Formats: sequence, C-alpha cells, structure tokens
Amino acid sequence: MNSATTDQVAVKVGVIGCGNISGAYFNTNKSFNFFEIVACADLDVERAKAKAEEFGIAKGCSVDELLADSEIAFVINLTIPQAHGPVMLRALESGKSVYNEKPFTVTREEAQRAIDLANEKGLRVGSAPDTFLGGGIQTCRKLIDDGEIGTPVAASAFMMGRGHESWHPSPEFYYKVGGGPMFDMGPYYLTALVSLMGPVKRVTGATRITFPERTITSQPLHGTKISVDVPTHIAGVMDFQNGAIATLVTSFDVPAHTMPNIEIYGTEGSLRVPDPNSFGGPVRIKRIGDDDWREVPLTHGYQANARGVGMADMALSMQKSRPHRANEKLAYHVLDLMHAFHDASDQERHIAIQSTCERPAPLPAGLQDGQLD
Ligand SMILES: NC(=O)c1ccc[n+]([C@@H]2O[C@H](COP(=O)([O-])OP(=O)(O)OC[C@H]3O[C@@H](n4cnc5c(N)ncnc54)[C@H](O)[C@@H]3O)[C@@H](O)[C@H]2O)c1
Repeated sequence: MNSATTDQVAVKVGVIGCGNISGAYFNTNKSFNFFEIVACADLDVERAKAKAEEFGIAKGCSVDELLADSEIAFVINLTIPQAHGPVMLRALESGKSVYNEKPFTVTREEAQRAIDLANEKGLRVGSAPDTFLGGGIQTCRKLIDDGEIGTPVAASAFMMGRGHESWHPSPEFYYKVGGGPMFDMGPYYLTALVSLMGPVKRVTGATRITFPERTITSQPLHGTKISVDVPTHIAGVMDFQNGAIATLVTSFDVPAHTMPNIEIYGTEGSLRVPDPNSFGGPVRIKRIGDDDWREVPLTHGYQANARGVGMADMALSMQKSRPHRANEKLAYHVLDLMHAFHDASDQERHIAIQSTCERPAPLPAGLQDGQLD
C-alpha cells in the first residue's frame, strides 16, 4: 500500500548518471506507485542502455534525448559531484525538477543559481542524503523531541577510514574538488545533525592532506595513481543556533579507530545515533541514573536500505503541493557548512554561517515501505 490515491498520475522520472549507485534508485522505483522511472541516460550511452535493460527501464539514451523528452517532469541526478551543478542547471532549464545525489553541488554559487532558477520556473530541487528519513535517525529525532535527553548541549561525530580506492571501481573523484571525506561523507553526518538539532550559526576547523598521492587497489584500475587535490582529514567545531556545540571529524587518513558515529549529549542523558550512512539502528540511550546504555526499539519505518525515499517524498510532495523533506534549503545549509570548515582552516578563524534552514518535518511513526504519510 502506498501514499498516492488511485486517480493520481505517476510522475515520470529520468535518471542521469548510470554508475555504481544507480541500481539502488532503479530498485526504489519498484517500491512506490506515485513515480515511475521511464528513462536513464549517461555520458556513456551504452552504459545507460545496459542499465535500462538490466532494470526494465523503457529507454536508455543520451542526456540530450532524456532532457528533450517532455513527458519527463523530474530528473534524478546521479552523476559525479563535479557534474551535479551543471547537470542540475541543464535539467532545470529544460523545465524539469531535480533531485541530486550528494554533495548537492561543488560550489555555493552553482547551488544558489540552481535554487534561483528553480524558484523562477516554479520547479523543485532536492538532494540526498535521505538516510535521515530512515528508522534509526527518525527514532532519535522522536527521542530528542520528546525530551528524553533533556536539552541538547553537545554532540560528537566521527567518520574516519582510509578512503575508497580499495573498493570503488573509479575512485579518482573522491580526491578531486567536490570529493574528500567532508564532501563525500559529511553530507550524511551534517544532514543528520541538522535534522536532529537544527541549523548551525558558526564553524571553525583544521584540515590537512596526509597522502598527496594514492594508489588504486580495486579493479579495473589497480595500480593507477591518483594525485590528491583536497584535504583528507578535516576536524571541525560547530555552534548550533540552539546553543549546542558539536565536534565533527571526517577523514580518509585513519587506519582504525573506536569512536562512535554520532553521540548527542543532553542535560538529562546521552543518545547514541546509528551510522548516518544507513537507515536502521541501533539507537542507544543512557539517561542520568541509568546503570547502563539501553537499546531503544525503532519507532519508524524505512529501516533497511531505502536510498531514494527522499526523492520519493519529493515526488509525492510535488503532487500534494507540500514541502519536501530532503529540500534545497537543507542541502544548501549542509553545503555551506562543508565549505565553512575548509574556509575556517584556510583563514584561521571562525566562519559565521549565512545560510539557515528549518528542521525537515519528521515522518510519521510506523510507516510501511511505500507509504510516506
Ligand atoms: N557509490 C556509492 O556507494 C555512492 C553512495 C551514495 C552516494 N553516491 C553519490 O552518487 C554519485 C554517483 O556516484 P557513483 O558511485 O555512482 O559514481 P560512478 O562514477 O560509478 O558513476 C557516475 C556516472 O555518471 C556519469 N556521468 C558523469 N558525468 C556525467 C554527465 N555530465 N552527464 C551524464 N552522465 C555523467 C558517468 O559516466 C558514470 O556512469 C556521486 O555524487 C556519489 O557521491 C555514491
């Protein structure tokens, strides 16, 4: 059962970028009846045709062909980060709303141009990540909103590893502008933190490049060298508008660690938030007076890999004329924060954050897959 009424016509959707992550979106297509992926395109048209065949999509084609298709009202942009802005702008110019993979764009300027163009044309823009809509983080949201940890005072968040060149088939983009651990993984952590605690008013940070050159150990590019153009260890501090202070470390330079993904500390207790790059749990809480941490049963649906639920919410919101949750203001604020950590390090100061956003509306508890209200 899902959220569209039977007389609603499914939004026709086109996917641009048929690489590694596209399969997750083609699979999501099957879970909802209020949108339908009718075409997919790539710079490599043969790759687009192969994905269309594999996932039963009506048409695999060139980007020009997809954008010229007047039936398509909505584009999912799954290209590499540096192409997110240009592809989003072209799709908007073609009269289509756009949902991007993360990061929203590389620069603040191209994100703002896209938002202005969408507003001018009466179109929508949204962006991954949508893991904050998963059962794990939605359960945390409810615990915080219900006052279970009192008033949030502080948070710490860690995303640390040794990078993606050991598994991703074409990992070069992770070390170029628009990549690095902050632009790659920061969106999950920052979107989760902002959806749980609200917007941020200032940040500071320190960054470094530890390994100026990396060697790909995955196939098919095994042995190929990558020159690293962006910081790969970023330690940041942020002050939220609500007064809470958070520490965030993102790194591709750390071989092993024992730090949590995210912990939020309140006046009455502490909350352990699950991996924000996943949809499920575990969620753990320890209130003042408790002997030990307690696992909290998840109250919300979308606990398994539900990548695409944010774009589904956007498609349904367009039909129901209501705001979408993985929206452009949230995405822009997160992009602004990611830049601000780097700017703060370069300029050796705090950066006052100019952007802001509302916390996206929580999902109702207990939804089944395919339902969004
Ligand atoms: N791979 C993952 O696990 C993963 C997870 C979450 C999010 N993402 C995000 O999804 C996006 C895509 O990642 P991926 O791993 O699928 O990358 P990928 O390199 O496997 O695929 C990207 C595809 O986009 C195509 N492309 C590039 N520029 C284009 C353009 N201008 N027009 C049309 N097609 C273009 C490429 O030909 C390629 O097929 C990235 O932004 C990444 O951050 C990836």
